[in-house]
Amino acid sequence: MSIGADRKTSQAIVVLISGTGSNLQAIVEAAAREQWSERLGAEVVAVISNRPHAPGLQFARAAGLNTQVLDHRSFASREAFDEALRQAIDLHRPTWVVLAGFMRILTPEFVRHYQGRLVNIHPSLLPAFPGLNTHRRALEAGCTVAGATVHWVTADLDHGPILAQAVVPILPDDTEHTLAQRVLSQEHRIYPQAIRSLLERRGSD
Ligand code: GRF
Repeated sequence: MSIGADRKTSQAIVVLISGTGSNLQAIVEAAAREQWSERLGAEVVAVISNRPHAPGLQFARAAGLNTQVLDHRSFASREAFDEALRQAIDLHRPTWVVLAGFMRILTPEFVRHYQGRLVNIHPSLLPAFPGLNTHRRALEAGCTVAGATVHWVTADLDHGPILAQAVVPILPDDTEHTLAQRVLSQEHRIYPQAIRSLLERRGSD
């Protein structure tokens, strides 16, 4: 980890959420704890949600972060929403765009625009179980392990190159909820770690 003198933000991170924002919180707390701003010139410069009442917005506001709502229901098409979202994101001149519980399928044009700086976390051991209801599907399939994956976002949903994974056991009495909690706690560990690795790599360029 390169330790620079006080540096203005040279790695702007924009985080997109739709819901709880627990991954956003884990990232923001890691950034403060590990001094990403001072050490890597990196900070979360904006949090954008497609849902006006996303609980994650409350955390972001309380943390003093710049927040914005872009309600996808206000747009006539996926393309129109993605274009407005791109404009909102680009105002912050992001080095990285981090999807953190962002529950929208993005258009290929949007993904292409952020290719190489757009990452996501998915609650399964990709390439197993892309899409939704991953824990229920793992339980129904009789899997003995589950986990989470941090990956580059490409036009092929949940199929981008993998950056990090965490494995958890599936226990005999697991429910979808107990498994989801076990996976989520690992998400909160590997997502900040994976992002910091990207920051360090860029910071040492
Ligand atoms: C997490 O399981 C994440 O993997 C998925 O959305 C869920 C909620 O994330 N993409 P968060 O609590 O809103 O960060």
